[in-house]
Amino acid sequence: MKKIIAVFFCYILFIASSWADNDYKSYTFTAGHESLKMFILPERPPFPTGNYPTKERVELGKVLFFDARLSGDKNMSCATCHSPLFGWSDALPTAKGSKSMVLGRASPTIINTGYNSIQMWDGRKKSLEDQAMGPMAAAVEMNIDIPSLMKWLNQNEGYKRLFSTAYPGEKINEKTVSKAIASYERTIVSRNSRFDHWLNGDTAALTKEEIKGFKLFLDPNKGNCVACHSGANFTDNGFHNIGLSSWGEKNPDMGRYTQKPLKLMKGAFKTPTLRDIEFTAPYFHDGSVTTLSNVVKHYAKGGEVSGNLSPNMKTKLKLNTKEIAAIVAFMKSLSGDHKKTMLPELPL
Ligand code: HEC
Ligand code: HEC
Repeated sequence: MKKIIAVFFCYILFIASSWADNDYKSYTFTAGHESLKMFILPERPPFPTGNYPTKERVELGKVLFFDARLSGDKNMSCATCHSPLFGWSDALPTAKGSKSMVLGRASPTIINTGYNSIQMWDGRKKSLEDQAMGPMAAAVEMNIDIPSLMKWLNQNEGYKRLFSTAYPGEKINEKTVSKAIASYERTIVSRNSRFDHWLNGDTAALTKEEIKGFKLFLDPNKGNCVACHSGANFTDNGFHNIGLSSWGEKNPDMGRYTQKPLKLMKGAFKTPTLRDIEFTAPYFHDGSVTTLSNVVKHYAKGGEVSGNLSPNMKTKLKLNTKEIAAIVAFMKSLSGDHKKTMLPELPL
């Protein structure tokens, strides 16, 4: 019996080690091919029971998202750091908070974050509903006293009307505020990119170079990007230390380790989506890299710092200049077809 188990175990190990290669070999790189269907995003992100994203909820969430009166100094809204002008981020290396304080981490885009199963660079929030009150309460961000904010919302005629149509029978409180904001965030979606058109069979949607870049992206012996940027939203919802130079500094940001004290998680951060990536420079949680080409070069040399590197990272990638350019071209084909965002009218 023991022997059978041992043989079985070795077999599993063998399968696991050749998994990535097999996966790669199973793809056929022609427009609309069945083997690539896994990269097609569902039309809408999933939502929790009790928060069906009705039109009224999304509209209310949008108003809250853009309303600077939800901050202590009345000068900062969610959109200050997650602005549609900058790919729903802020174009800064790391965020600027209350009283222009420079914060330790970059504002991630909120595009497609509704598809992700875990939130924040260190994964400290499970859902968008869990996340939404955090920035308002945080002294370094919107810095507002939550009980007084709730009191104000409950006295504002416009908000009273919006809440009663969005959440009839429910109170105006932290729960409904979070639910409305989360419903709005789930509409900030990047789809219908040229890559998606190609997946759906439009042969002309991608150039030869972009298809080459996609192949390199998936090839475990070339770009190896898919080892972490997997699935239709290009993230494994996992955490990795990718050897950024900031990890080599004194007292570096421990990232996921602050939530899960496992050695592997020291300096590990959440794998971000790559959809709409051309709009959200500078890159990484420390904002240390300004161009996509330099991002690929970072991976090509296996990171800047080697301590505690993710096992999914390769120490060196065999990529020439043309191949690096092809991977960048592929990433730029992931930009969705966005409608203009119109600012909401704030309720009085
Ligand atoms: C001062 C800038 C700032 C403001 C204001 C702000 N955020 Fe953020 N946001 C950040 C930063 C920085 C992070 C990452 C923090 C971390 O991971 O430690 C973040 C993370 C997030 C995430 C997680 C995204 C992901 O992919 O993991 C969501 C969702 C989010 N913010 C929504 C909001 C909402 C909703 C508001 C308003 C209530 C808001 N933010 C206000 C800077 C800001
Ligand atoms: C070991 C897992 C892993 C591999 C392999 C990997 N990435 Fe990443 N990627 C991540 C993680 C984790 C981050 C965020 C790291 C941080 O900020 O600390 C990231 C960040 C990025 C960003 C910046 C995103 C943003 O919003 O700031 C880009 C672009 C990117 N990766 C592209 C690629 C490309 C292209 C490849 C292949 C050449 C690749 N990645 C390989 C895990 C990986």
